Amino acid sequence: MDAMHMLLKDVDQLNGDSDARRKVEEMATQMDITMSASASRRTTRKKPNNSSRVSTSSAGRIGFIGAGQMGEALICGFVNAGMCTPDRISVSVRSEERSQRMLSLGVQVFGDATLGGAAELAEVVDTIFLSVKPQYLDRVIESLKPHVKERHLIVSIAAGVRLASLEANLPGGTRVIRVMPNTPCLIGQAASAYVLGNNATGEDAEKVFALISSCGLAVNVEERMMDAVTGLSGSGPAYVFLFLEAMADGAVAAGLPREKAMVLAAQTVAGAARMVLESSSDGTLTHPALLKDRVASPAGTTIAGLTELESAGMRGIIMRAVKAAAKRSEDMG
Ligand SMILES: NC(=O)c1ccc[n+]([C@@H]2O[C@H](COP(=O)([O-])OP(=O)(O)OC[C@H]3O[C@@H](n4cnc5c(N)ncnc54)[C@H](OP(=O)(O)O)[C@@H]3O)[C@@H](O)[C@H]2O)c1
Repeated sequence: MDAMHMLLKDVDQLNGDSDARRKVEEMATQMDITMSASASRRTTRKKPNNSSRVSTSSAGRIGFIGAGQMGEALICGFVNAGMCTPDRISVSVRSEERSQRMLSLGVQVFGDATLGGAAELAEVVDTIFLSVKPQYLDRVIESLKPHVKERHLIVSIAAGVRLASLEANLPGGTRVIRVMPNTPCLIGQAASAYVLGNNATGEDAEKVFALISSCGLAVNVEERMMDAVTGLSGSGPAYVFLFLEAMADGAVAAGLPREKAMVLAAQTVAGAARMVLESSSDGTLTHPALLKDRVASPAGTTIAGLTELESAGMRGIIMRAVKAAAKRSEDMG
């Protein structure tokens, strides 16, 4: 079994731990957060309001303009969570490679959005995810605009692109929602934030909330917070991958075989993160510094490692990384 499969098996096992899972769900409910796992196919939702629950069938047909890293992760997340079947998803993609990949997932494929793909997609779907890179968004929206009808809900996942700009470039009255997901939605472990545009309704909010919370945790934020979200959870998986790589390299340097180093490092990060999420009894997360202090014994191994991290300024470096990504998102707007 390779390291990735071992890790996914571990995630499955964690998801199958009903007691631990119940605690997280209770906490998530108190925090107005939703948590789900594709492996367990079980979703607990705290809806944006108390009206009817969005069911799998009422999610309507879903379209994606652009289906690269993030678009594909969302598609797989929705399908794995049982929110929709591939035959209810359509995509507009540009390259042959992407087209073949999408066909292999069983979704309907149209071509380049700017060469007719947006029009064909809009004809057959109700919700349209804009999931191209921000620099391509203007041209895509220009092509989509004449085909946006009253039934359409537009969901942009583009970093840094403001609701005001999206609404100004779409027909007046278009219902728009901004979402900042992250790639762990692929395995039902996303951390996503969303904000409603001026014309989006409660029903739209329910629909998007149901979709994104089906593959992880979803929080509603004010738009002014979206750049910070982008710097934190939107970009965060890459920071963690870098950290994991470095942890594993250190272990290899200390004599551990690579595959064992990788899986132990990954499970250590997953386990430590779950301790933060699950450690509270009253709905507030336990401060990680307390958990850190509990495992650093006098003159022990952990404090020796922590001394190295602190002398290299690790906390400052990570804070600067999140701020730099947030600033980049702000500058893109
Ligand atoms: N990656 C993340 O972790 C992440 C997290 C949160 C939000 N986002 C946001 O998600 C969006 C997509 O990011 P990504 O990382 O998924 O980028 P990506 O992997 O480059 O995917 C974008 C896709 O859009 C396609 N595309 C570009 N122009 C098109 C057109 N005219 N018609 C149809 N398809 C077109 C590209 O096609 P080709 O492959 O043929 O070039 C590509 O497959 C960005 O706005 C980003 O800010 C990303």
